[in-house]
Amino acid sequence: MRYLNTFILTVLIALTSCSQGGKKYKIGVSQCSEDIWRNWQNAEMRMEANFHENMTLAFATARDDSQLQSQQIDSLVASGIDLLIVAPNQLSSVSPAIDRAYDSGVLVIVFERKTDSRKYTAFVSADNYEMGRQMGEYIAMRLNGQGRLMEILGLKGSSPADERHRGFRDAIAHYPAIEVVAMLQGDWTEETAYNEVKRYAENNDVELLDCVFGHNDRTAMGARKALLEKVKSASDLPLFCGIDGLPGKEGGICQVRDSLLTASYIYPTRGDLLLQVALDILEGRPYEKEIMLTSALVTRENANVLLLESDEVMRRAHQLEFLQEKASSYLQQLNVQHIVMLLAGIVIFLLLLAILLFYLYHRNKVNMQRERVVQNLWNLELPAKNIENTKRVESTEGDSTLGPNSTDSSDSAVEESIGPSPFITRFKEVVEKRMDDSELSVEDIAADMNLSRVQLYRKVKMLSGSSPVELLRTARLNRGYQLLLTTDKTVSEVAYAVGFSAPAYFTKCFKEVYGMLPGEVKK
Ligand code: FRU
Repeated sequence: MRYLNTFILTVLIALTSCSQGGKKYKIGVSQCSEDIWRNWQNAEMRMEANFHENMTLAFATARDDSQLQSQQIDSLVASGIDLLIVAPNQLSSVSPAIDRAYDSGVLVIVFERKTDSRKYTAFVSADNYEMGRQMGEYIAMRLNGQGRLMEILGLKGSSPADERHRGFRDAIAHYPAIEVVAMLQGDWTEETAYNEVKRYAENNDVELLDCVFGHNDRTAMGARKALLEKVKSASDLPLFCGIDGLPGKEGGICQVRDSLLTASYIYPTRGDLLLQVALDILEGRPYEKEIMLTSALVTRENANVLLLESDEVMRRAHQLEFLQEKASSYLQQLNVQHIVMLLAGIVIFLLLLAILLFYLYHRNKVNMQRERVVQNLWNLELPAKNIENTKRVESTEGDSTLGPNSTDSSDSAVEESIGPSPFITRFKEVVEKRMDDSELSVEDIAADMNLSRVQLYRKVKMLSGSSPVELLRTARLNRGYQLLLTTDKTVSEVAYAVGFSAPAYFTKCFKEVYGMLPGEVKK
């Protein structure tokens, strides 16, 4: 049953991918950073793209460098993308490149981080201010409204850092007994947070800290690592809270479940949705210009449930990925089979053609050589058609008693036979001597030549391709033609002179061979 399901799904995927024709859209994805959150999102986009044969994706990652990201956006546009999906590293420094893209007619979806321009087709993000605010409320609640905090900011100039900061500060402003004793500048990376906190710890008593809020989980984990090196035991550590709440072993949900972090906040990646919005825009369907994604606080209380859910999603995603790979390998195999079959067909066709051509060539050659033999023999200058006709007429008349085995001729035998040979000369003499004898039979000729009837048949057939009867008939008609041309004899006289016992039959054969009546030759 499982295999049946797998098979049906595979066929469906294969069919949907086969059936989608039409325009192919090229989508450029400009990521500001390279990290676990971005990797997760890129994987979602790739997965979603598998369901749409009409799009290709081109990724670029700027590794937190705004100048590099601007150049990458320009290159993506120059490469002819239809739509740009961009997470700008910083608010203002990447905006000119995005504006350029937009002005050149490329559709633009800004996601997650903002620009300071309105030049975009759609904006997709979760509410960073609200995340900061809710995290502030949660921390205040956990600290019972009093305590000493450290805030580690995200990258300077990036919109989530600013919004998370404002939301957080607005929330704790309601708690006068909560004091932010340290605000360190981070850049979203664990490494910078670790270094900054380590430096802070050199001059400050970190055991007085009650909570560290990092603007993302990696920052909070970097701070934890630095403080763990400083405090006597893990129980002296403050609370650590972050944002991102990614699923997976390295993600924030697991870190909360394992009490490495006290809380996180799901910052949805939704690469699948980004591509769906992109397609809606590209294909002219209605879409919302500002899309707000829902998210949620992650604590010890719900971490397990969230993990179960995300595990389920991941399992499904892996199954789909597996099926997709299988489907595309089936398709590849099918393509290979098609190509092999096509090639085999072409080879067979060419082979048959070659055999046919060879056969025709060979038959033609043999026929020509035989005609030459007949012509040499009787000094004829008959058109080939007439000789064929002669053969056809005579073969209905019956020396078939000689049997099929007697048609033994070969190319080389014919080749050898060209030119006068004693046998040919002798055959000719015998026939010409008794041309007017309508009783002259093959047996008589054979007897005159001291051969059996079968021996004569074989030899004549081999040398000329015709039977003795056919050859005799050719000779009689040809002589008749010459007599009609060169003497005053009537048609009947000629017919008797060349051994036809009935002039009407002579006329019939003559017409068939020369295409005209004997009387017409005379005229
Ligand atoms: C990923 C990331 C996340 C963070 C977001 C802010 O690159 O650093 O960790 O929440 O960007 O834009």
